Amino acid sequence: MNLDPGAVNLDVGDVRLHVVDGGPRAGLPVIFVHGFPFHHGMWEPQLRALSEVCRTVAYDLRGLGRSEAGDGQYTMERFVDDLFAVMDGLETGPAVGCGLSMGGYVLLRAVEREADRFRALALCDTRSEADSDEGKLKRAAAIRRVKEEGVSAFAASFPELVLGASTREERPELAAEVEAMIRTSSALGICGAQLAMAARTDTTGALGSIRVPTVLLFGEEDPLTPPSVGQTMASRIPDAELRIIPRAGHLANLENAEAFTRELRAFLERLG
Ligand code: MLT
Repeated sequence: MNLDPGAVNLDVGDVRLHVVDGGPRAGLPVIFVHGFPFHHGMWEPQLRALSEVCRTVAYDLRGLGRSEAGDGQYTMERFVDDLFAVMDGLETGPAVGCGLSMGGYVLLRAVEREADRFRALALCDTRSEADSDEGKLKRAAAIRRVKEEGVSAFAASFPELVLGASTREERPELAAEVEAMIRTSSALGICGAQLAMAARTDTTGALGSIRVPTVLLFGEEDPLTPPSVGQTMASRIPDAELRIIPRAGHLANLENAEAFTRELRAFLERLG
């Protein structure tokens, strides 16, 4: 059974990526880049709502979801190569890039490398700074945990690190959904993504060169990238607006899907 109508397996050289291409082909192309360690399904509320009017492209980063893992030796540069390969393969032309957390890291480096590929950006619960030494050590510990205890144990510990207090109190079922999403990925892919994030460059210096309209969408209760991070980014990007998503944590697009989608839709409409 094909769970993703419009899904294709796109060959990017060494692996095949799971890509979903929806909405009217002539619509404004929006490409969604998911966070760690999730897959394109995290964008389900937005894909459902926006594919009425936009061309919506979402894919699983290598090693996550249903994309192949390859050798597990990933870099942020490789993730950007894959994003460009998806855009070229589907002939999207210049698109709106929408990325959450790790997806934001991919987009920030992508726009630094090839600005002309983007019409606008939606940067969600993310940051431009590279990892601190403390952050790198946390990733090393996480890699060890995945290798020693397996993906299921890692997945079980993850929701409480990312979900906001309101979600944890009022929507415990979302934690189970998030955990299930993580369990679809392999240990190789999860560890590879951690290595890529640990070794990524700092894109803060390039924020002032972003020339396209940018919306920053941050969960009010995000414990990892709080709204103050979005505020600082907004002050550095010339044409940026910050929108705080109430009663949402790090996965703002799922925790308060209605408010998040409303803000994203309004931003897309303003682009005309
Ligand atoms: C994510 O949601 O993508 C992660 O929190 C990013 C990270 O681990 O830095």
